[in-house]
Amino acid sequence: MNQKNQTNGYGISEYHDTAKLYEKFDRLINTPARALRPEALTRYLEEYFDKKCPKSKALYNRAKAYIPGAVQHNQAFNYPFPLAFSRAWEAFLEDIDGNQYIDFLQGGGSTLLGSNPKPVLEKVKALLDECGPVTCLFHEYEVKLAEFIIERFPGIDMIRLLGSGTEADMGAIRLARVVTGKKNIVKLGAGFHGWSDQLSYAQRVPGLGRMECHGIPRNIFKYIQEAFPNDIRSMERILKRNRFRGGTAAVIIEPLGPESGTRPLDYDYPRKVRELCDRYGALLIFDEVVTGFRTCLGGAQDYFGVIPDLTVLGKVIAGGYPAAGALGGKREHMERLAGGLGGKKGKKAHVGGTLAANPLSAAAGYYTLKELEKNDGVARAGRLGDRLTLGLKQLISKYRLPYVAYNQGSMVHLETAGPVLFDINLKRFWELPKKVKELYHRKDVMVKMGAAFMAEGLVTVGGSRMFTNAAFTEEIIDDALVRFDRVFRNVQNV
Ligand SMILES: Cc1ncc(COP(=O)(O)O)c(C=O)c1O
Repeated sequence: MNQKNQTNGYGISEYHDTAKLYEKFDRLINTPARALRPEALTRYLEEYFDKKCPKSKALYNRAKAYIPGAVQHNQAFNYPFPLAFSRAWEAFLEDIDGNQYIDFLQGGGSTLLGSNPKPVLEKVKALLDECGPVTCLFHEYEVKLAEFIIERFPGIDMIRLLGSGTEADMGAIRLARVVTGKKNIVKLGAGFHGWSDQLSYAQRVPGLGRMECHGIPRNIFKYIQEAFPNDIRSMERILKRNRFRGGTAAVIIEPLGPESGTRPLDYDYPRKVRELCDRYGALLIFDEVVTGFRTCLGGAQDYFGVIPDLTVLGKVIAGGYPAAGALGGKREHMERLAGGLGGKKGKKAHVGGTLAANPLSAAAGYYTLKELEKNDGVARAGRLGDRLTLGLKQLISKYRLPYVAYNQGSMVHLETAGPVLFDINLKRFWELPKKVKELYHRKDVMVKMGAAFMAEGLVTVGGSRMFTNAAFTEEIIDDALVRFDRVFRNVQNV
């Protein structure tokens, strides 16, 4: 029994019953999607977006001519048009029309301490006064941040700071190939490991393979395979087959499940993957870009007691400041990274970047993590995630909806339509057109639900995911639940 919970600094109070969750997912996607009533959607569009957001709308109309899709950030496009935000503090946001929101997007999960926390801001300002954001030279803060992380992550003896999670994931698979001399990388279907060519394989839903990987030549995927989440036998089959086609350099997983736990993993799945990696001589990579500090300050690897060979970090590692990425791991592997003095002789993996390990990101990350530790911030954000989830479950029962709410501490999931809960099974190709149509319909339902949340003052990750942070309070969560109630009241009956 896992005794790690919020009483001793972990973000998760109790690991979910994964089998039960999948039963609920099945029920959700096998019953007709429950969308907002059309008249409610029209009311939100006319009364809120048209009347209360004119400045955002005007800015959007200007941006359309110069910016592909009108916004630079993938998470910024919201139906019916993106709102432009000018202020962020603690748990809140304000748009340029002066409307205020509860912020459950939290910089895509990167602001775990709170939005723009004062103790970090002061240190950052002092640093900027002294040396500005970048020198491309050695700075004390990169050492301080490295020491903090290495003391807490069981799988990290050495660490290399990089510009983003995407870069760190690219570095991880390159290093794994150098260390093992093997070729293949196995990932989980639906897993997101950034947008590099190779790791774009099988994103979003399991079975997708190289569909939707436009602009990437198919031979890029020659040495990438996907296993279905929780299906340890499918993973072993791939590892066995790979012995005759160049071997497996690494298996890469998000330890709580693909797409930030949207496809939750069984509690013992990471351990089983560890065993398989040992048996087949592959490195195990944990992509902890999201789970890294939200599960606990020693990552999901500390929580599960499963030690990966390499770890990818991002987001919280820079406290919400730019250039958030790092690759850590066991000393014998990390010494194969090129750069610096000394290290192992022989083949090396090259990584780098102009803004990697800049003093600004390193200082912001260091003080963010220190403050989180001082204030028990991880457990606090987790408790507030629990409160939000419990409240959502009560609303789901109150309105007899098929929706599913669950959380892993401060990472909260609300599936109202479930477009990402489908699988693609090419062996049953005749089902594909119908499935794809249904998937897009459900995506549309979810996006419109996100618009209703926004109009009620709730910023979410695409209408289906939420992050809490240590600056939330019980009052803020309860206020959010009243707003969710107003949306759920407007859902269509069957
Ligand atoms: C698990 C995971 N890995 C990698 C990345 C990519 O990180 P970045 O956006 O910093 O490139 C993300 C981004 O959301 C992620 O969630």
